[in-house]
Amino acid sequence: MTERTFSIIKPDATARNLTGRINAVIEDAGLRIVGQRRIRMTRAQAEAFYDIHKERPFYGELVEFMTSGPVVVQVLEGVGAVAKYREVMGATNPAQADDGTIRKLYAVSLGENSVHGSDSQDNANLEIGQFFAEEDIVG
Ligand code: RTP
Ligand code: MG
Repeated sequence: MTERTFSIIKPDATARNLTGRINAVIEDAGLRIVGQRRIRMTRAQAEAFYDIHKERPFYGELVEFMTSGPVVVQVLEGVGAVAKYREVMGATNPAQADDGTIRKLYAVSLGENSVHGSDSQDNANLEIGQFFAEEDIVG
């Protein structure tokens, strides 16, 4: 079934001019970029986005990192997009990511791991709604 998922190209990747190369991996996997915007996340946006990790020891560091530079927020569309993008991203820790995945290719570390992708369809819908109006998604 055609689905939508939410993606973020994180500050470590925009700092190294990797947006185009990451988009190429996404498109080569058969996912269509149907919404895309480069933004500087506010602290409030980052805190709200990662609210589920509020109690985790890395929460403060994560919010700092996500507001440290520009990010590219994206809506990706395709068959089984949520699971497919998780596959394309690779494991959270790049040391454990499979060959050919974005994190294996480009991530710096567990924290600075180049991309975010929604982990369920419910979260994808919530996350897309945090950053996109429906008219800014063109399928
Ligand atoms: P994401 O949400 O970014 O797509 O990544 P994920 O599902 O693979 O990882 P998750 O467990 O949701 O963690 C969210 C982000 O927090 C950072 N992190 N840092 N220092 C640490 O121990 C640690 N653990 C996680 C990573 O940037 C991770 O992507
Ligand atoms: Mg996650």
